[in-house]
Amino acid sequence: MQTIGIGIVGAGNIGSRHARFWAQVEGAGVVAVADTHPGASENLAVLYGDARAYQTVAELLANPNVTVVHVCVPTHLHREIAVAAANAGKHVLCEKPMALTLSDCDAIIAATAQAGVCFSVGHVTRFFPEYALAKARLDAGAVGTPTIARTRRAGAFPRTAWFADTAQSGGVVADLTVHDLDFLQWCFGKIIRVYAKIAASPGFEYALLTLRHESGVISHAEGVWGEPTGFHTAFEIAGTAGLFTHDSRAARALVASVRQPGDTPVALMNAPLAPSDDPYFRQVRAFADAVRGVAPVAVSPADARSAVAVALAAIESAYTGNAVEI
Ligand SMILES: NC(=O)c1ccc[n+]([C@@H]2O[C@H](COP(=O)([O-])OP(=O)(O)OC[C@H]3O[C@@H](n4cnc5c(N)ncnc54)[C@H](O)[C@@H]3O)[C@@H](O)[C@H]2O)c1
Repeated sequence: MQTIGIGIVGAGNIGSRHARFWAQVEGAGVVAVADTHPGASENLAVLYGDARAYQTVAELLANPNVTVVHVCVPTHLHREIAVAAANAGKHVLCEKPMALTLSDCDAIIAATAQAGVCFSVGHVTRFFPEYALAKARLDAGAVGTPTIARTRRAGAFPRTAWFADTAQSGGVVADLTVHDLDFLQWCFGKIIRVYAKIAASPGFEYALLTLRHESGVISHAEGVWGEPTGFHTAFEIAGTAGLFTHDSRAARALVASVRQPGDTPVALMNAPLAPSDDPYFRQVRAFADAVRGVAPVAVSPADARSAVAVALAAIESAYTGNAVEI
């Protein structure tokens, strides 16, 4: 089996998590980590045998053992690093959202296409068992013709400072609700119109989006940064023959209402998934399959760009007070 050498760029929260799961993919391994923050790449690389630690992306890209670059830096930097990786001939898996402007998305898509490398975006929601099952059963007609969907995704306000700067993160809609925008379009097709309200104050951001799909389905997507009860997700999908509901809080094996140090007042605990069921593992394994040519990428560049387009339209709607056609 072809060995896939992973270069993690950005050794923060999600980069560390992805490294852990890449190390479990058969025939793949973390061979390099780059992070501009002194010591960060060393602290992560040391966990993965003889993985090399770099403080610049250029050094990581010059390492011939790196065949895949997993882009895990703050969102406003995705374009720069994804394009550089493609130009260096590396396959690119980029964290969501792909970027914060459509021109940045287009530049990434063009560079990866021109280089002939695999490119996908980490819309990990598609790999969560409840979401994947709902999609499979919807496609099998289990709720008849879908008519209305509602999603909710809420968590603590992000601790890392750059998230609070909308120029770097895009805010709650582009950073968090974008997971649901991808899921909703995956299930019900293209969203053609959005009306949104966003309420924001320091340490809190709430968004409510009303979305019209080309198929006629109406969706409501709610996103919260600053949710006091901890991270959770939920959806309802109603059709002519039935209703799906999911609430991650209802599925928790253990709810522990304990005060945490720091700014998260309540922790919700879940029984751990088997390693092979973990959505983050399944996501990177799927990309490894795409690199090996045994499957297409799970999330197409066009789908990931489309989720960004809807997020940007929602933000525009919230600012202008008008519905926005996409
Ligand atoms: N899919 C998910 O569930 C999920 C969860 C969290 C974050 N994310 C996404 O992942 C990305 C990173 O988020 P995070 O929470 O890990 O952020 P983070 O701040 O924890 O980590 C980012 C890391 O990138 C490093 N960095 C910054 N500029 C760099 C550069 N030019 N070159 C190399 N390294 C650089 C920082 O030093 C930091 O260590 C964002 O796009 C975010 O939206 C996705």
